[in-house]
Amino acid sequence: MKPLIVINVKTYPTGTGPKLLKLAKQMETVKNETGSKIILSVPATDIYPISKAVNLPIYAQHTDLATYGANTGAILPESIKFAGAKGTILNHAEKKIDHKTLKKTITTLRLKNLKIIVCADTLDEVKPIARLRPDFIAIEPPELIGGNHSVTKARPEIITETVKIVKKIDPKIKVLVGAGIKTAYDVRKSMELGADGVLIASGITNAKDPKKVLIDMLS
Ligand code: G3P
Repeated sequence: MKPLIVINVKTYPTGTGPKLLKLAKQMETVKNETGSKIILSVPATDIYPISKAVNLPIYAQHTDLATYGANTGAILPESIKFAGAKGTILNHAEKKIDHKTLKKTITTLRLKNLKIIVCADTLDEVKPIARLRPDFIAIEPPELIGGNHSVTKARPEIITETVKIVKKIDPKIKVLVGAGIKTAYDVRKSMELGADGVLIASGITNAKDPKKVLIDMLS
């Protein structure tokens, strides 16, 4: 089974504007050359131009529990959908939300046919999140995010346990592995431990040659 690759560009310098467009085009080329499944998660302000420019599923990095009305600055599920997003990340370690809000947000997004990736920082978070039946759960120990020690080397057991917990609750929920993912070893190990794919940020966004890095990872 091919790994699903989710790239979260966060707010790195290549994660917005013309540099993001260039990165997105490179990721699209990798998809076309390798036949891999690649999802790109971009800032809300970049969803529209990027989803128009490339043939990749574009996800928001966060969506608020809000609808039309007096909610200055909110990122509405309606807005990300109109902009061209196919889904969103929720509860990222850098954008945590409480469980009640998460539950309501998932219900709202489902009604709009948007896909949902929910991040979990710890094993304790995995079960309650899995019970909300998102499409994907991404396990990401926060202390390893953005670093050079990948979760596959530093905390392999957290991947195995997450897969066990999630698949017992609903085998249709896909498990992603994130934090420090940078090499083909990390991708292969994640899959060997039962995950369905990886969630990557700095390994791609900060790479000198992101296209080469991703092709290497997929090898
Ligand atoms: O959302 C992905 C993320 O938090 C992992 O970041 O830089 O460790 O790949 P990074």
